[in-house]
Amino acid sequence: MRPGQRVLVHAAAGGVGHLAVQIAKSRGAYVIGTASAPKHDFVRALGADEMIDYRSVDFAEAVKDIDVVLDPLAGETRARSLNILRPGGVLVSLLYGGSPDEEQRAAVLGVRVETLLVEADHAGMNAIAGLVEAGSLRAHVEATFPLAEAPKAHALGESDRTSGKIVLVVTEPASAEL
Ligand SMILES: NC(=O)c1ccc[n+]([C@@H]2O[C@H](COP(=O)([O-])OP(=O)(O)OC[C@H]3O[C@@H](n4cnc5c(N)ncnc54)[C@H](OP(=O)(O)O)[C@@H]3O)[C@@H](O)[C@H]2O)c1
Repeated sequence: MRPGQRVLVHAAAGGVGHLAVQIAKSRGAYVIGTASAPKHDFVRALGADEMIDYRSVDFAEAVKDIDVVLDPLAGETRARSLNILRPGGVLVSLLYGGSPDEEQRAAVLGVRVETLLVEADHAGMNAIAGLVEAGSLRAHVEATFPLAEAPKAHALGESDRTSGKIVLVVTEPASAEL
């Protein structure tokens, strides 16, 4: 990602999206996010330059000439995101399973699709730590649960409506209990 590139982050208020917005911004990108309207202030405060209320506006009509789309949603959103890329642009999906004609459509449009499985590595984690130390990256925690309430945490996560991360706290047993 280069300074000045136009980056669109779908589900920009979500666990992945709200971090992606900040990382793209720290790289000098012009960042556009999709989220429902009540979450726009939250995402703008993280650095988004422009927000689209996906419930009332068709993102595929609202923006064009995008260099990078980050898509944690897949399905129809993924398919329609190809149309907003400029030639040479890339759609980065976090989920497997594009439509059968995706490759052909991408070739016609002159764009690429990358399906990404995030794997932590030393250089990447160091770069993230640097952003955190510099105050350019922070994780928003929507809710915290003790490990015993993991099912509740999963149920909340599966609502697809949360902002930021959900944290499970694993308490070390006191040394006397060992
Ligand atoms: N490949 C990998 O390595 C990798 C890594 C991490 C996560 N993932 C996957 O990425 C996906 C997303 O994870 P996540 O933790 O970021 O999800 P999440 O936090 O649960 O996402 C919730 C957010 O999605 C928004 N949202 C739902 N439908 C939307 C739509 N149509 N358009 C725009 N925003 C929408 C909601 O906003 P509103 O409430 O405003 O609707 C909410 O803020 C999951 O399927 C996860 O498994 C993959």
